[in-house]
Amino acid sequence: MKTNRTNASAASKIKIGFIGCGAVAELHYQGLMACPDAALAGIYDSDPGLMKRRSGEWNVAAFESLGALLNDEAIKAVFVLTPVDSHYTNAMAALNAGKHVLVEKPVAGALHEIKEMAALAEAKGLQCMPAHNYIYSPDMYRLRKNIKEGCFGRIPVSWFMYHIHHNEELCARYPGIVRQIGTHLLYTHRYLFGEPASMTAHTTRFLYPHLDRDDQMMLTLMMPDGSMSNLFASFAVTDQSTNPWSFVVKVLGTRGSTQLSWQDVVLNRALGTLSCSYGRYEETYEHEIRYFINECILGGTPPLSTLWDALKVLEMVIRAEEDARAKRRAFI
Ligand SMILES: NC(=O)c1ccc[n+]([C@@H]2O[C@H](COP(=O)([O-])OP(=O)(O)OC[C@H]3O[C@@H](n4cnc5c(N)ncnc54)[C@H](O)[C@@H]3O)[C@@H](O)[C@H]2O)c1
Repeated sequence: MKTNRTNASAASKIKIGFIGCGAVAELHYQGLMACPDAALAGIYDSDPGLMKRRSGEWNVAAFESLGALLNDEAIKAVFVLTPVDSHYTNAMAALNAGKHVLVEKPVAGALHEIKEMAALAEAKGLQCMPAHNYIYSPDMYRLRKNIKEGCFGRIPVSWFMYHIHHNEELCARYPGIVRQIGTHLLYTHRYLFGEPASMTAHTTRFLYPHLDRDDQMMLTLMMPDGSMSNLFASFAVTDQSTNPWSFVVKVLGTRGSTQLSWQDVVLNRALGTLSCSYGRYEETYEHEIRYFINECILGGTPPLSTLWDALKVLEMVIRAEEDARAKRRAFI
C-alpha cells in the first residue's frame, strides 16, 4: 500500500531534465529537491566525467547525448544550465522536442535568438522561462507590492548593489560583469519599477591582471518621473564591513524606506559558484522552480519576467557595454 502510494505520487511529478550539470546546476538541484511536484529524471553534460560524477551524487540517469535526453517522452521540461553561448541551441532543440524550458541567464547572447525562442515557444504552446531567479523570493514579491501600493510614498532613489569577489578563473567562464550581474540587476529593477527613460553606464577593469574583462559596472537609470536608480556590481571586492552590501536593494521613499539583503543568512559552505552560501540567494532557486512548475507549466500563466523582459534587458546590456566602451562622460 505504502509502495503504491509512493509510486503514484512519484509518477504524477513533472519529470525534469538538466542540460549542463556544472556549478549552477548544484543550486537548481537543491531547489528542485525541495519541490514536491517535480523530480529530476535525467541529465546531459558535454563533459562525460562530470556527468558521471553527478549521476552518482544525484542518483539520476545520465544520457549519452542531448538527443537521447530530448527523445525521452517522460521528460516534460528541461533546465538549460550551460554557458550562454549554447543557450539558444539547447533551448530551441528542447522546444522543438516539445519540452517546456527554463533557461539560465543571460538568456542569450544576441537579440534575434531571444525573439526566435519566444516565437517557437508560442507556436508550440510551451513555456520558455528566463531563470531570473532574484525576483522569485517572497521578499521581492512583497517589496514590489509595497511599491505599487504606494507604501513608501514617492520614491526619488533606489539602489541595487552587488559586491562579491569572483577570481579570474571563475570570471573567465562568464561573458563580463554587465551581462553576468548587470542582467540580474536590470531584470530586478524592471520587475520592481518598470521601464526606465534613460541610462548612463560606466565599467572598469580594476583587479584582473590577465583576463580582458571588466570587473566593475555602474548603471544609472533615470525613470520617467525623474527618480533615479543606481545599479552597481563588483567582482573585484567582497564587502566585509558592518551590514555588508553583498546583494542589497534599497528603496528610499518620501513616506518610508526599506532594504532587502542576502546578508541575513550566511553559511560557511560553498555550493554552486560562490565560496560561501547566502541562504536568501539559494532559496530563490526553489521559489523560481516552484513558479515554473506550478504556475507556468501546470497553471498556464506567464513567468514573472518573460522572454520579452529578457529581450529588453539584453538591449540595455548591449547599450551599456557600447556606452561604457565609448566612454561617454565628462573627463576631468
Ligand atoms: N542565476 C544565477 O544566479 C546564476 C549563477 C551562476 C551561473 N548562472 C548561469 O548559469 C549558466 C552556467 O553557469 P555555470 O557557472 O554553471 O557554468 P559551469 O561551467 O560550471 O557549468 C556549465 C556546464 O555546462 C556544460 N556544457 C557546456 N556546453 C554544453 C553543451 N553544449 N551541452 C551540454 N553541456 C554543456 C559544461 O561541461 C559544464 O559542466 C550560465 O549561463 C551562467 O550565467 C546563473
